[in-house]
Amino acid sequence: MLVPTILLIVLTILLLIYVIGKNNENYWRRRGIKFHDRNKVAGVFWDFLTTDKPLFEIVGDIYKQYRDEPAVGFGGFMTPTLLVNDSTNLQHVFQTDFHSFSQRGTEINKDDRLADNILFMNGNRWKLVRQSMTPIFTSAKLKNMFYIMDKSGKDFIDYLKKNPERLKGNAFESISTFCCAAIGAAVFGVVSESVFDSPFMDISRRVFRSTFVRKIKGSIVNLSPWLTKTLNIKLFSEHEDFFIGVVKKMIRQREQQEIGQKHDFVDMCVSLQRNGTLIDKDTGLELEPTDELLAAQAFFFYLAGIDPSAAAIFACLMELGRHPEHLQKVHDEIDMTFEKLNGQLTYESVMEMEYLEKVLCESLRVLPPVGFLVRQCNQDTVLPVGNIKIEKGTKIFAAVYEMHHDPKYFPDPEVFDPERFASKSAQDNIVYMPFGKGNRLCIGMRFARLQVKTGLIHFLRHFTVKTKIDGDKLQFAREIQVRPTNVEIEFIPRKMKDL
Ligand code: HEM
Repeated sequence: MLVPTILLIVLTILLLIYVIGKNNENYWRRRGIKFHDRNKVAGVFWDFLTTDKPLFEIVGDIYKQYRDEPAVGFGGFMTPTLLVNDSTNLQHVFQTDFHSFSQRGTEINKDDRLADNILFMNGNRWKLVRQSMTPIFTSAKLKNMFYIMDKSGKDFIDYLKKNPERLKGNAFESISTFCCAAIGAAVFGVVSESVFDSPFMDISRRVFRSTFVRKIKGSIVNLSPWLTKTLNIKLFSEHEDFFIGVVKKMIRQREQQEIGQKHDFVDMCVSLQRNGTLIDKDTGLELEPTDELLAAQAFFFYLAGIDPSAAAIFACLMELGRHPEHLQKVHDEIDMTFEKLNGQLTYESVMEMEYLEKVLCESLRVLPPVGFLVRQCNQDTVLPVGNIKIEKGTKIFAAVYEMHHDPKYFPDPEVFDPERFASKSAQDNIVYMPFGKGNRLCIGMRFARLQVKTGLIHFLRHFTVKTKIDGDKLQFAREIQVRPTNVEIEFIPRKMKDL
């Protein structure tokens, strides 16, 4: 009896796989859209689970194969899934028709408390929380916060000088310590020296490093809201107690003090709670700024301020370390600024460094920390090029890394040329998306740019870099983020009289 039952189960599963795969294929073929028929059921997620490749490369491989098609379908379990290649269609999805594509389509469990943050939220709730958090990232607020980043930069140099073993070896790890200090201080008011060897650092490492279980959880959350609910999958439950505990404690402590002095996230939490219920005037939606809701935002700001920011600094140093002509120009710009200001960096002086800005933009083209983006359609619509009908629920992918390396958009894409960004408007190019595009653009973009530049300025005032790449091609970690594994950056102390 057992054998026939097992056989029946296996046959049913095989039949289901066949039917779902065929259905996915027919769905796009009926609409005149090419279908990438490798793994017709789970599409890119199957390769993500079973191969060594990072997800952005798997998505990029499809882009390369169908580059001249306006879009190509691939397996997304029971969800129609489309990789959009054409820039007009991308503009439509990310900017023009925002109301049809206002979400990413990752549905988290209601009791995954730290996942209740802007990244995963949808609809009016997302709009209200994003609106409430936006004021922390205005130029005026960043200017007030600059002292935090400047201090973290100085502390980082002291730390490197006291720990010379950090100058060679794992550059990404060393850079992450600076990012952790800067974001830790900005979000939690943590004094930076304590961060360099603290449990905060460890948390970001554990959240970002890919394990098989994390890959499975991530794939399920992306593929099926039903399975996410049924299996009660939570992404960050192991960090809940620590993070919510820390934020609660910080808020209660700050309530006893005069707020508005530290200019950090905790200040903002206290003032939000004092102002009471959050209300969206357009929709009437009301939301309480509870400790838990604020802790979830803090949690994601904290994570976003470490690995992606460290990846951006890494990208700049990697490119500068193999292009001495650009490195020299950046050193000159930094030295001149320090000399003009008698060694005291200001917010304005960071914003005025034009060459550094171009180097950052070009480095983020070559190595965008986030290599692909996703949107989910929330009302039926049509993509203009190819007149592609998109039904509610369809997932749309954009192959950011590959588009940044497509000669159609960036001639000689493998050449590192900061002058591509000589004009400010070059960043508006729809296919240039290191921070995303449209209304769901990275909320922390201006913070991150300031953090990255301040770190680079302090670092390149005291050190110079040399890059060694093992082999003739970059290899990447099997992570969500774009992270080269065969690159070594050596930090070399600069020999200058006044340092
Ligand atoms: C260099 C560092 C960073 C990079 C490259 C980066 C990149 C991105 C990208 C590509 C997205 C998705 C945008 C889209 O879908 O269109 C995003 C979203 C987001 N980022 Fe960043 N990020 C960085 C740093 C930060 C920092 C420091 C914070 C917070 C302090 C932050 C907070 C967020 C949030 C909350 C979202 C979700 C926005 C929404 O859905 O409304 N990021 N980021």
